[in-house]
Order: sequence, then structure tokens, then C-alpha cells
Amino acid sequence: MAQKKKILVTETVLRDAHQSLIATRMSTEEMLPILDKLDKVGFHSLECWGGATFDACLRFLNEDPWDRLRTIRQKCPNTKLQMLFRGQNMLGYRHYADDVLEYFVQRSVANGIDIIRIFDALNDLKNLEVAIKAAKKEKAHAQVAISYTTGPVFTNEYYIDYAKRIEEAGADSICIKDMAALLTPYHTAELVKAIKSAVSIPVQLHTHYTSGLASMCLLKGIEAGADMVDTAMSPLALGTSHAPTESMVAALQGTEYDTGLDLVLLNEIRDYFMTLRKKYLDSGLLDPKMLAADANALIYQVPGGMLSNLLSQLKQAGKEDQLEEVLREVPRVREDSGYPPLVTPTSQIVGTQAVFNVITGERYKMCTNEFKGLVGGKYGTTPMPIDPEFRKKIIGDEPAIDCRPADLLEPELEKLRAEIPEWIEQEEDVLSYAQFPKVAVDFFKKRRDAKYKIDSAHVDMEQKVHPV
Ligand code: CO
Repeated sequence: MAQKKKILVTETVLRDAHQSLIATRMSTEEMLPILDKLDKVGFHSLECWGGATFDACLRFLNEDPWDRLRTIRQKCPNTKLQMLFRGQNMLGYRHYADDVLEYFVQRSVANGIDIIRIFDALNDLKNLEVAIKAAKKEKAHAQVAISYTTGPVFTNEYYIDYAKRIEEAGADSICIKDMAALLTPYHTAELVKAIKSAVSIPVQLHTHYTSGLASMCLLKGIEAGADMVDTAMSPLALGTSHAPTESMVAALQGTEYDTGLDLVLLNEIRDYFMTLRKKYLDSGLLDPKMLAADANALIYQVPGGMLSNLLSQLKQAGKEDQLEEVLREVPRVREDSGYPPLVTPTSQIVGTQAVFNVITGERYKMCTNEFKGLVGGKYGTTPMPIDPEFRKKIIGDEPAIDCRPADLLEPELEKLRAEIPEWIEQEEDVLSYAQFPKVAVDFFKKRRDAKYKIDSAHVDMEQKVHPV
């Protein structure tokens, strides 16, 4: 019998699962009743923050994301809390100056984060170095995620080279992040084996269920040496989300890879999330379309989150019938722009440009500023060089950027603070504002109004108790 190797499980139900299936709308209130049980399972980590959750809290849920983090930390004292962090983009959609990034990492760890999974959409290590250093300085676990994609440049050698450089840069572990569900089981085995042979730090597998292959990929990846896997509790698994946690635990039970997690306890947690699932289905938030296996992912290379966003955007515009055309346009836009992997923010940039190209009936007739930025090097170096002719067509005579984009940014934390003194109630507010200026101020206003209402209600009560 081979030597026992306990496989570690990261539970994603509090972040990626609902980001992928219901546009990140799970509220803290919905999480609260089950946190205690989640904490008892013995997961390697609970992925619960970062990614799109921060934006969704402020924009749609009228919640302070920092409060959410503190609440989860308080209710889950025994489990490592993990966040997803977009390197120099933090959780926003542009590059931030190093002082803002360092402060964000510091406050994230101070409020409860243990593991920071950092990635760059272009796999440009220049965009990750400061974030890795900042995480290490705060004594957090710095995991660097490789944005997995396919295309002419993305050979095993490409990934081996990137993995080696990640290890040299000081990362504590590596994650293969297959956000678009492009991995197939046998290729996963090859890739994991290649990366494991090149580095000595642990390797984690993150793959979405979109094309129906995730469980098989995880199993082959585990056999090939992966140390940790990402899964989601079954009511919010499958479709554009992840392989079901319970199924994975059961598959490995009694083998050399046993996770040691308790299926009975997991089943109790499942019951809770089934009630949420029903609620999401009844309200229409969870579209059953998102739950079907879809081999289109393998053809169009569109990640789960992007697919659900495109679908809901087109639905709102009454253009649901043009989804196929937009999906066909995405790989073309991607090729033109140097084969960026499709992950936030490049997935939005490429997706929106594809929508424009289809809706206007003429390619690049209208270009977003973000697409111009991508082509002009503002997000870093693309995996493949961009055709100079194409670049000229998009950005004109403006020179392209080839240094670390953040080197062009002046420190900005003090300036940001000076912009909103009247709204700051906690030191983290400036970071919410940095990332989502308009949305954060709208939230701050609502927060103050709510407080004012409570204060005036309180005054009324006093008047009743002590009539003059
Ligand atoms: Co994901």
C-alpha cells in the first residue's frame, strides 16, 4: 500500500460557489447560521472573502465587507480563512499603487485572513511580487494561483517555468486555477506531475464543473500528486461551480488519500444549504441553466462567472438570443489581445469588447477604455505579443507600457483618505473607497442614514420613557 497522504480540502461555498452560480449574492445573514458547523469540519481552509464578494457586499447587499470578514472570523475560530486577491488589482479593476496594496493586505490579515490566494490575469509575475511580499510581511500564507488557460503559448513548459518563478518569488504554495473549466482529467495529471516535479511547495487544484469534468480532474490530479483541492458543498456545487465536497470526501474515503472529513457532519451542512438553494431557485437568482454540464466551456473558454454575467447582462438587454454570437466572438478578441487567460478583470474586458463587437455589427468600432488599456500594456505583459498593427488600430500612437505598470503610479493612500474624510468610520473604509469609489460612497451614505434612523428612534424611546 502506498504511503498515506491526507488530501486537504478548501471549501468554497462562501465565496466562489455563490460567485459562480448566483452572481455573488449570498449575504452574511444567510451564512451566519451555518458558520459554526463549517468551522467544525476540519477543512484546510474556508474560502470566504475577496474575489467579487467585496464588490457585491457594497453594491448589492448593502453590507460592509469588512464586517462580514470579522463576523466569519469570530464564528470560525478554528479554520483558516482564505481570500482571493487579484495581485496589483486587489479586488478592483485597475492597478493600485503599492502603498494601497500593502495597506489592504495588512488590514485583511488584521481582520482575520490567514491565506491569500494571489493571481494575475496575465500570469505576469511583475504584478504579483509586491502582493507576495506584503502577505509574507503580515505572516499570512501567500499562495500564488496560476491562471490556467489554453492556446499556442500555454505548454507544460510554460507552466513549469511560471511555477518555478513563483516559488523563487517566495510563495508558500501554488494553485492551478482553472476558472474556465478547460482542464481535462488526463491533462490535469500531466500538468500536476510536471509542476510537482519542478517545485517543492504544495500544489492545490481549483477547477470548475462547467464542462462536467471537475471531479475526474481532481481525482487524476490527486493521483498525480496534488496536495489540496477546492470543492463546494453539494447544494451549490456542479454547473459553473465546483465538484461537490461530500462526493469528493466519499470518493477518497478509506484510500491512501482519505481527507479525514466527516460525511455525517457534512450532510447536516448540506441540509442547511439545500434550503438556501431552494430559495435561490424560487427567486430566480439561481438559473437552472447554470447547473447543466456545458461543453461550450471547452470550445469558447469562458469561465463560469463570466458565462453567468454575460447571460444576465444579455437577459437584461433583451438580447439573450445573441449569447452564441458573443461566445463565438470571445476567442477572436482574445487572440487579438495577446491570449490573456479569461479571469477577472480580463474576462470582463474581453467579454464586454466581444459584446460591443457583436452588438455594433462591426469589430472594434467601439472600444472600452479597459480594452485599450489591455492592448496598451496597462495590465502588464500579455502571454503572446500583440500585433503592432492591431495595437495601433486600438490605441493610436500612444506608446505601449512594458515596465511593471504599478511603477508608474504615485503613492495614493493619503490622497484617497483626503477625498472622503466625512465618510470614514473605520480605517478600512478608505480601502473600500479606493476600489469602488462611487459604490462605496453610496454605501457610506446608506450606512449613515441607517445609523441616523436608529439614533432618532432611540431619542423617541427616551422621550417616551421620560416624558417632559
Ligand atoms: Co474559481
